[in-house]
Amino acid sequence: MVFKKKRRWHCLSGQPITDMDKQVMYWENKGKLVPTRDLIKTPEQIEGIRRSGVINTEVLDEVAKNIHEGMNTLEIDKICYDYCVSHGGTPACLNYEGYPKSVCTSINEVVCHGIPKEEDVLKEGDIINVDFTTILDGYYADASRMFIIGKTTPEKEQLVRVAKECLEIGAEAAKPYCFVGDIGHAIQKHAEKYHYGVVRDLCGHGVGLKFHEEPEVLHFGHRGTGMLIVPGMVFTIEPMINMGTWQVFIDADDKYGWEVITGDEKPSAQWEHTFLMTEHGVEILSE
Ligand code: MF3
Ligand code: CO
Ligand code: CO
Repeated sequence: MVFKKKRRWHCLSGQPITDMDKQVMYWENKGKLVPTRDLIKTPEQIEGIRRSGVINTEVLDEVAKNIHEGMNTLEIDKICYDYCVSHGGTPACLNYEGYPKSVCTSINEVVCHGIPKEEDVLKEGDIINVDFTTILDGYYADASRMFIIGKTTPEKEQLVRVAKECLEIGAEAAKPYCFVGDIGHAIQKHAEKYHYGVVRDLCGHGVGLKFHEEPEVLHFGHRGTGMLIVPGMVFTIEPMINMGTWQVFIDADDKYGWEVITGDEKPSAQWEHTFLMTEHGVEILSE
């Protein structure tokens, strides 16, 4: 049957149905995973996450200014804690599910969640990921960068560069009304050109009102899979790229059970940003 007159769409609450609602309903009917309302941030929430992102960026800038050979990772932890707290923020990692420090410092074969410690002294040629998350007025922003200590090998240099490209290529693939799988697919394709392994056991995530929200942002996989991404969603992309195997383990020496290392103990690199999906593509909230 056909409607004689053009009907305006209304849902039962009387609110007009927007183009976004139509897209969501369309894909939901096709059996796709779609975001719930709470994953679409209000302008006020976006402003809050943006402000948290400013502090978070400044924390990592402070690390960039001070990181050097001979320093231990507990000193990096102190830089992050002091900067964040003195600017009104709280380090999200501290005491998060038993995590004992304010930042993750992951050196060489440590993939992520490296715990700062006095014995971990940075030496020439090390590559290190520093991952920090700020809570400001209840809003979360999460980002990480790689640092190369002095001069490293061309192989490690390339790994760090390609991991960054993976983040950039993933961000470019993220368009309004795309699927999370479009991002992962683009990342995997780039990493595998270099025969690198893309870590599968850990992923990016929605972020903003909590540390880890839906959706899971896998850094590998197929286009059109995973959750539909619509304007107003805030999430991280944070590919972990291994020089060798994609497989990872929890380091048996870590009494906290947090530190993740590569299966073959070859190096790993990671970059992370918090992104807002807009009507046109992503905006970085953590730079
Ligand atoms: N910042 C990490 C992420 O990107 C999470 C670290 S959780 C911690 O999701 F407890 F290890 F700090
Ligand atoms: Co992070
Ligand atoms: Co994250």
